[in-house]
Amino acid sequence: MTLRAEEVAWAIEKEIKEYNDQLTLESVGYILQLGDGIANVWGLDDAMMSEWIEFSNGTYGIVLNLEQDSVKVVLLGTQEGLKEQDIVKRTGRLASIPVGPALLGRVVNALGAPIDGKGPIVTDQSRNLESMGPGVVERQPVNQPLQTGIKAVDAMIPIGKGQRELIIGDRQTGKTTLILDMILNQKGKNVVCIYVAIGQKKSVVSQIVSLLEERGAMEYTTVVVASASDPAPMQYIAPYSGAALGEYFMYNGQHAVCFYDDLSKHAQAYRQLALLLRRPPGREAYPGDIFYLHSRLLERAAKLNDSLGGGSLTAIPVIETQANDVTTYIPTNVISITDGQIYLESDLFYSGVRPAVNVGISVSRVGGKAQTKAMKKVTGSLRLDLAQYRELAAFTQFGSELDDATIAQLSRGERMVEILKQDKYKPYSLEKMIIIIFAGTKGYLDDLPLDRIKNFESGLFSFIEQEYRQIPQSIAESKDLSQETLDLLKEAIGKFKEKFNNDHLAGNT
Ligand SMILES: Nc1ncnc2c1ncn2[C@@H]1O[C@H](COP(=O)(O)OP(=O)(O)O)[C@@H](O)[C@H]1O
Ligand SMILES: [Mg+2]
Repeated sequence: MTLRAEEVAWAIEKEIKEYNDQLTLESVGYILQLGDGIANVWGLDDAMMSEWIEFSNGTYGIVLNLEQDSVKVVLLGTQEGLKEQDIVKRTGRLASIPVGPALLGRVVNALGAPIDGKGPIVTDQSRNLESMGPGVVERQPVNQPLQTGIKAVDAMIPIGKGQRELIIGDRQTGKTTLILDMILNQKGKNVVCIYVAIGQKKSVVSQIVSLLEERGAMEYTTVVVASASDPAPMQYIAPYSGAALGEYFMYNGQHAVCFYDDLSKHAQAYRQLALLLRRPPGREAYPGDIFYLHSRLLERAAKLNDSLGGGSLTAIPVIETQANDVTTYIPTNVISITDGQIYLESDLFYSGVRPAVNVGISVSRVGGKAQTKAMKKVTGSLRLDLAQYRELAAFTQFGSELDDATIAQLSRGERMVEILKQDKYKPYSLEKMIIIIFAGTKGYLDDLPLDRIKNFESGLFSFIEQEYRQIPQSIAESKDLSQETLDLLKEAIGKFKEKFNNDHLAGNT
């Protein structure tokens, strides 16, 4: 190698210019013990809880235990290349992730780093993973509907912006599908969606992402992934990252929804961490603060008051139960933190009632105030009718002598169940829901055979679209059902029914 004088001069000049004689203080410590993704570090006396710590191999960790003469740090990456007595550094920063509109359309890991191969995410804003939810005065009651596009939900278990609604059920009951439908339905509605996949298989997540991409839903969605093969600390922080992303939009006066799929796996990841950190195990071997784990997450959902911009963060956590048992530890915890739950049942799912919502025990404690006027006008006693139908149906399986009133109630119930069935990835607009639920609850379908109801529905929609455009238009604009529209709707359904029956007699359907 030959050195040229001008190069050397340049380098020396630069060094002199940049020289400053101030000492920089770095707080460092040493690894005492290392194993299972946990480092016991000595010498970081002034480390903060949930502070970021840098290891010599470039991996970051989070302080989770402050002990008398050491701190325990969980590693968020590989521990390869690390050994005992290695130096570790404090960063002085709490764990945080990049936030902002640049994250929309992206798939990121729990630290906000892109994993979709679409290049770096450029944003100059960040938020701490952990932050306190807004206080009482900063909030206002839930008062705007979050349209899910699912008939059974919007009609009977309405969700409001800023609410926390739990989706609970066994595996393979359509929980994730329900969420995907909700995301698809937010298209063009100025709602940002954040889907947090915790402990799921990567292949499943990639199917979800390609569905969202295909349907143009990634434009307003961020997917945060901590898959089953990621380390437990990543699965543990993933929902908090998702909440931080959502909070950015909420404090910006926008509306965001965070889906946590699912918190059962989140609790398991935390249990794993807690046991490795040698925290004392409690019920079902979960640590004592497992309730706080989920309550501090879900309390971050809010509808802000108007002086703060009126933005909202809705939380839709998912819990997977075993054998329909909602009375175990984690499910009861999360049920008590949320404002209601959508209960999905495998029996219903396998008997073809999909989405498999058990209407009897599903509730929404605050969403009713946010339901659209139009929906309130048509649903009326729908919930009660369905619950009574379920009871009657179970009861009359054995008997044969039924009075007319019971038969009428049964056939109405059967038809309502049929109406509320919905194919996956086909969210309904408000107008369509109103039209078909009106037809059902007002008895227009009572004399139709069950197997022709789906045909009737699709025929009715295209008939109204052609001949009575003003009905869906008026509902969509006013979100209400005026007397005028109501009369028109009755007329339209009456006319179509005549046509439908005539066509049938003529053998056309
Ligand atoms: N409404 C529906 N109509 C038809 N198939 C559905 C519906 N909901 C769910 N499925 C199917 O059922 C299976 C399980 O759904 P999934 O949402 O993955 O359940 P979970 O998340 O509860 O385990 C999937 O194959 C999905 O496509
Ligand atoms: Mg699922």
